[in-house]
Amino acid sequence: MMHIRQAIATDWPRIWELFQLVAASGEVFTYDETTTEETARQLWFAPPTHCFVAEVEGTFAGTYYLRANQPGRGSHVANAGYMVAPAFRGQKLAEALCRHSLAEARLRGFTAMQFNCVVSTNTAAIRAWQKCGFAIIGRVPGAFRHRHHGLVDVLIMHRALTDDATASAATEQPAEAQHSVS
Ligand SMILES: CC(C)(COP(=O)(O)OP(=O)(O)OC[C@H]1O[C@@H](n2cnc3c(N)ncnc32)[C@H](O)[C@@H]1OP(=O)(O)O)[C@@H](O)C(=O)NCCC(=O)NCCS
Repeated sequence: MMHIRQAIATDWPRIWELFQLVAASGEVFTYDETTTEETARQLWFAPPTHCFVAEVEGTFAGTYYLRANQPGRGSHVANAGYMVAPAFRGQKLAEALCRHSLAEARLRGFTAMQFNCVVSTNTAAIRAWQKCGFAIIGRVPGAFRHRHHGLVDVLIMHRALTDDATASAATEQPAEAQHSVS
């Protein structure tokens, strides 16, 4: 059973460990292996960012952050980032984390969510976000230097949070959520 909850201070070492792994892959984050722990903490963990963790049978399995995409007059649009630990990939945790974040964003009064930098070769992420109602609204040519593929495009993805027709309350989870993972 998977459980998603708000992160606490003692979660940080596991989040940082996963962040370093993902950054070092050079495949999905603009943050690379030179990123400092303090930079990562500011991005993922430190207020006003909201950080959540997923546990499967009590074991850390993934995390996401949620915050405003822009300050001031852009602060009604949320931004989020997600990481699933390698041992737990392919079990739809990304989708569960994303649906959870959409519910949390709504609770906090955000009216939309935007991803600014989805690497176009990140098939699993794009698939998961599209299943959660996100549309690709922009493509920035060659904006990411992929470790293996060289210059690849970056996608901007967006989802309104005000359209209940596309936001099924039945599939989005509240702050404390239990999910079965197969
Ligand atoms: C991207 C990531 C979050 C996906 O997590 P996940 O829990 O394994 O994803 P899911 O199990 O929800 O799978 C998502 C979809 O992608 C599909 N998929 C998974 N890996 C795939 C691959 N290599 N190629 C094609 N499709 C793939 C899954 O089958 C699933 O589609 P389906 O529901 O139609 O079967 C995870 O790989 C990760 O943490 N990567 C590093 C960090 C990252 O990329 N974050 C996102 C940045 S935008």
